[in-house]
Order: sequence, then C-alpha cells, then structure tokens
Amino acid sequence: MQFQIQNLNKTNSKAQSLVYFVSQKGTGDQGMKLNNIPKDLQKIVKDAEKDEVFKGEWSSTLSFRGMESQGGKNITFIGLGPEKEFTAEKARQASANAYKYLSALKTQSAVIFADGLVINKNKNADIARAAAEGVTLASYNFDTLKNMGEKKSKKKTSKAKELNIELGMGDSSAGTKKAFEQGTIIGEATNFTRWLGDMPGNRMNPKILAEETVKAAKGTKLKVTVWDKARIKKENMGSFLSVSLGSDAEPRFIMMEYKGAAASKKPICYVGKGLTFDAGGISLKPSAGMEEMKYDMCGGASVIGTMIGIAKLGLKVNVIAFVPATENMPGPSANKPGDVVQARNGKTIEVNNTDAEGRLILADALTYAAEKKPVWICDAATLTGAMVVALGNIHTGFYTSDDAVAKKVEKAAEESGERVWRMPVVQDHQDDMKGTYADLSNLASSRGAGSATAAAFLKNFVPEEVPYAHFDVAGTAWNAGNRLSYNPKKGATGSIVRTFIQMAMDHKA
Ligand code: BES
Ligand code: ZN
Ligand code: ZN
Repeated sequence: MQFQIQNLNKTNSKAQSLVYFVSQKGTGDQGMKLNNIPKDLQKIVKDAEKDEVFKGEWSSTLSFRGMESQGGKNITFIGLGPEKEFTAEKARQASANAYKYLSALKTQSAVIFADGLVINKNKNADIARAAAEGVTLASYNFDTLKNMGEKKSKKKTSKAKELNIELGMGDSSAGTKKAFEQGTIIGEATNFTRWLGDMPGNRMNPKILAEETVKAAKGTKLKVTVWDKARIKKENMGSFLSVSLGSDAEPRFIMMEYKGAAASKKPICYVGKGLTFDAGGISLKPSAGMEEMKYDMCGGASVIGTMIGIAKLGLKVNVIAFVPATENMPGPSANKPGDVVQARNGKTIEVNNTDAEGRLILADALTYAAEKKPVWICDAATLTGAMVVALGNIHTGFYTSDDAVAKKVEKAAEESGERVWRMPVVQDHQDDMKGTYADLSNLASSRGAGSATAAAFLKNFVPEEVPYAHFDVAGTAWNAGNRLSYNPKKGATGSIVRTFIQMAMDHKA
C-alpha cells in the first residue's frame, strides 16, 4: 500500500474510489450532517436517508460503483453515528473500515476524505494521526507463510496492483503532516509486533526473535544487545535460565537502548515476556488450544515494537527495553514441580507449577531493569489465563501500587484509544505468594485472583522506590478482531504498543 496525506479539496483528486464520512446530528432522528460532502453527492445520500437505507449510523455504509462524480467511479459513505459521541478512537476505527472497504473493491487509487472526521473537539492533527493509524493497522495481513514457493520463484510482486491511498485533510500545516507521519509510524510499529506474534514457534524461537529485533533496529538509533545462555547464567538470572532448560532452543536476553535525551536523564524502561512457545513444561498444558501458546511472546513483541516506534519517532527521551526470550518445554532438564531456583536479586523461588513460567523469566528481567534506576518500569506479559477470565479481550488489566503511574497510564491509554483497567494488588496477594521451603512460590497458596497474585509475585523484583506497572495482555494480545475494525479477525493485535509509545511521548525528560 502507498499511503500519503494530501491537502485535497473535493474536486482535484484523480482517484478511482472516494470515501466520505457522514455523522448524525443527534442520537434520535434529527438527521445527518453532510458538511464535507460535495453538493451532487449530498442529494444521493439524502435520497438514501429518505428510503431509510442509510442514516449515518455508526459503522453503516452506503456505496455506489460505476458512478461519475468528483472524478471517482466508486463512492462510499461511512456512518459515524451521533456527533456528540464521536472520538479520535472512532476516527481510527472508521478509517480502518474505509481501508477494508477499499481493499475489497480491488481499486488501485483512492481518497479517504478524513477531514470529515474532524468533529467535536478533535483537532486536525489528532484526526490525521488516528486515521493514519487506522488505515495502517487495517492494512496488516499475515501472509508470510503462504505461497512461499511462488514468492521464491517470482522475483518481485508487480507494483501495478498496489493500492494507492490519499488521506484528504484539507489542511497542509506542518502539525497535521507530522501527526500523519507519527500515526503511520505507530501503526507500522504495531504491525511489526503483530508479525512477530503471528510467526509460529518453530520460526520465531528466542534466537530468531533476537535476530529479527537486530534486523528491525538497523538504520535507527537503537542499540541492540543480545545475551546468550552462558551470559544469562553468568549474570545470575537463575530463575529465567531454569525455564529454558526443558528446551533444546537456547534462551536469549534481548536489550534495546534508545538515547533521545541527555545522558544525565534517567531512562524509562519496558520489559516484555518473550515466551516463544509455552507448552507448560512438566506441568504440561492440555493439547486443545496449545497452538495458541506461540503468542506467549506477545508482551515481548509489544516492547520490541514500542522501541522501534520510539526510535522512528525520534522522541526526546532515554528508553531501555528488556525481553527475556525462551521456550517452556518438558525436556529432560526441565524444571520439576518443587524445584527451587534463585533469582538475580537473591530471592529463592519454589517452582510449584512449571506452567507459571512467565513470572520466573520476568523476575530476573525486572531486577535487571530496576538496576538502571529508571523513571519507571512498565512490563507487558501474556501472564495468566485468569486475566482472560476477568476482562476478556476488551480491556488490558494493569497493576500498580503507584497512583501517579496509574494516572500516566490512564492518560496515555485515553490518547492511544486502547482500553486499560486498573486492577487491585494488595498485601494479601503478596502473602499468598510466600514459599514453604523458599522465599517465594510461583503458585498462589489460595484459589482465585490469579492475575493479581501473579502481579504481586512480580513486585518482589522491583524495589519499592522504583515506580512500576505490570500489564497482563493475555486477553488482548490476540484474537480481538471481533471488536475493533483495525484488528485482524484472528491473530496478534499488537495490544499496548500504542499506549507504551504514548507514555514515552508524554514523558518530559
Ligand atoms: N502463558 C500462560 C498464560 C495464558 C494462558 C495466556 C491462556 C493466555 C491464554 C501462562 O504461562 C500460564 O500458563 N499461566 C498459568 C499460571 C498458573 C499455573 C498459576 C495460568 O494462567 O493458568
Ligand atoms: Zn505457562
Ligand atoms: Zn506463559
């Protein structure tokens, strides 16, 4: 897809297909708003309204093929619903719908008149960014592993069939252009995260994940450092290392550093669970649905995508990311229930369920991140099935004991359009994670609140004085396409990338 922003007025486009947006004046039958629609087209929309075919309701469409209007042949109107309820997130979704419609048309050139999305208090720049994100996100399609033979034999796919989309903003200010570029970068960073997640375990093991990270960072200011098994052992990451021992695939500890501010400025840190396949280990998972555990590195992938995005945006902050990457397999050297391992911070852990491995690898990564004396640490992990039960694929649950961090998270999520929900973590959850024979157990001693007890466990590896939030993305990292038009129907979503990037954008170094 070719994608650019244009200061178009309604008559100067040469595109085959045109998309307009139509909102409703109120929640009842007060009619539609047709501000940004050329006169000749207004008539046909009004006719459709009279016939009760199209009222501008949220996500409804009205389309015509073989028309001759404004130079276009295919004209589509997308309903936005009541003006009052309109948000930048709705602009993101409506733009994704526009892209999907255009790709189904098999058209080659199109204009999306996104100036029709400037409603309420939304500014041109906010809409340009949201629309750029919506279109870029909707264009993601995981086809790497299909027709591989053909792709190899053909030199390059022909460019002629590429869809060329112009986003009409009726505004060529530097601010709007910059916002459009930011939206495109953020969308692409999220798509990269999705791609890492969608790749299966045999093609995205810890070594490959590290290599792909290095490859993606080429040409940016990111410095990527990768530790192998021997180094991980030497660094006393005994908890992380123990999880990897059941597999032939060696672990990797991936670090990405970005310096956008003076060296004296403290970094912000991201940590992500990079379980490239979670079979459960000796506490083996049931086979039904186990294939989904290739997504168990989505937290890590989100952190990697976040860093690529931050570097491409050229943000004026210092950021370091850490991704412990491993498989969790039941090989002969695997952790056994009851084994006691020691983490980098000295704490001993009873491994009472080898399937609760995410917390074991994050323990060492969080300890190491905290040693960098960061402004704050945010981690992302597909940590618990309990999170899926609690919040489904609607919200990402996050845990923090720090109200100031919670505020930052909520503000960033509001701006990014991602839904997050603060969950409780208290002393009782901590008590439930005490070990019988070691300092801690990786399995709670009481039933229920499984995502909160997991969060409480992680807190043991971040010193009190370091502001910290944990995001359990188990419910939102894949298969959430039934809710959001910019998510793929199935597969990785890249959840929390937009919020993590926004937190870095909001941070004043
Ligand atoms: N990767 C899983 C969590 C998970 C399960 C994510 C389903 C998404 C969908 C994690 O490693 C795990 O297995 N957690 C256990 C912990 C339990 C043994 C305390 C779980 O949630 O069942
Ligand atoms: Zn597990
Ligand atoms: Zn896991």
